[in-house]
Amino acid sequence: LSYRERSSYEVCKETADWIRAHIAQHPKTAIICGSGLGDLADVLEKKAVFLYEDIPHFPRSTVAGHAGRLVFGELSGQPCVCMQGRFHCYEGYCGSTVTFPIRVFSLLGVEVLITTNAAGGLNHHFQVGDIMFIRDHISTFGLGGQNPLHGPNDERLGVRFPCMSDAYDPDLLSLAMESVQELGFQSFVHTGVYCMLAGPSYETIAESRMLQALGADAVGMSTVPEVIVARHCGLRVLGLSLITNRAATSYSSPEEACHEAASHEAVLRVSVARAEALCRLVARLTARLGES
Ligand code: 6GU
Repeated sequence: LSYRERSSYEVCKETADWIRAHIAQHPKTAIICGSGLGDLADVLEKKAVFLYEDIPHFPRSTVAGHAGRLVFGELSGQPCVCMQGRFHCYEGYCGSTVTFPIRVFSLLGVEVLITTNAAGGLNHHFQVGDIMFIRDHISTFGLGGQNPLHGPNDERLGVRFPCMSDAYDPDLLSLAMESVQELGFQSFVHTGVYCMLAGPSYETIAESRMLQALGADAVGMSTVPEVIVARHCGLRVLGLSLITNRAATSYSSPEEACHEAASHEAVLRVSVARAEALCRLVARLTARLGES
């Protein structure tokens, strides 16, 4: 489908109607599983699984470590939908394709988006394997003129000029930090600013230094387009990054600058090691959401 067709209300609605006819329970929370974080979907109960290729108008994902399935089910007793595999701009998809599932979720009645990703750490206090809840973002992509809301605005989907100063919901963030306390995860969980690069090449050392100076704590290649569209259609957003490597910021410390540190395999390895803690955190948070 062309850019205009994919982002149209009618196409999103056709997909949402098809899904609604195939599921028993309507999800209130949508969870995007980032690179290597697909395990999140496996802990759902009473699962109904759909391959992206079987869902009308749904794009396909092309990256290793991204399965390409929508998983509906219950997490902590709450009806949820997980995206196992997201779409990235670096795959050649335009912003409206990358964010198509978000609009479908909104039409299905989803109210909260929990989005996860694998990211490189820029903040010196972060260790590999730490989790960062996203307080705010910087999009080099967006600042460079790439925004998923480019083009005519359909008021049925959202307003022309959506506010982004509250993109990451402060109440959800508080709830998340309470869950962190309850689980005793304080030693490896932080909050911070996520910076999106278009990718697929990783950042240079000079770029990492620039991003640090701009106030970014972690860097990755996703999330921002989905968050912009989620806010456009009125979803509340919680974002988190799993720090799978340190972005190289020094020419003189090869262990930091080594290519292996930023390899896709390293990303998948670290996410396996921290996957269980992450699942427990998201499950706890979902339980808390159900109480509120
Ligand atoms: Cl853009 N950079 C680094 N260093 N690690 C990442 C990443 C970027 N995206 C996922 N992991």
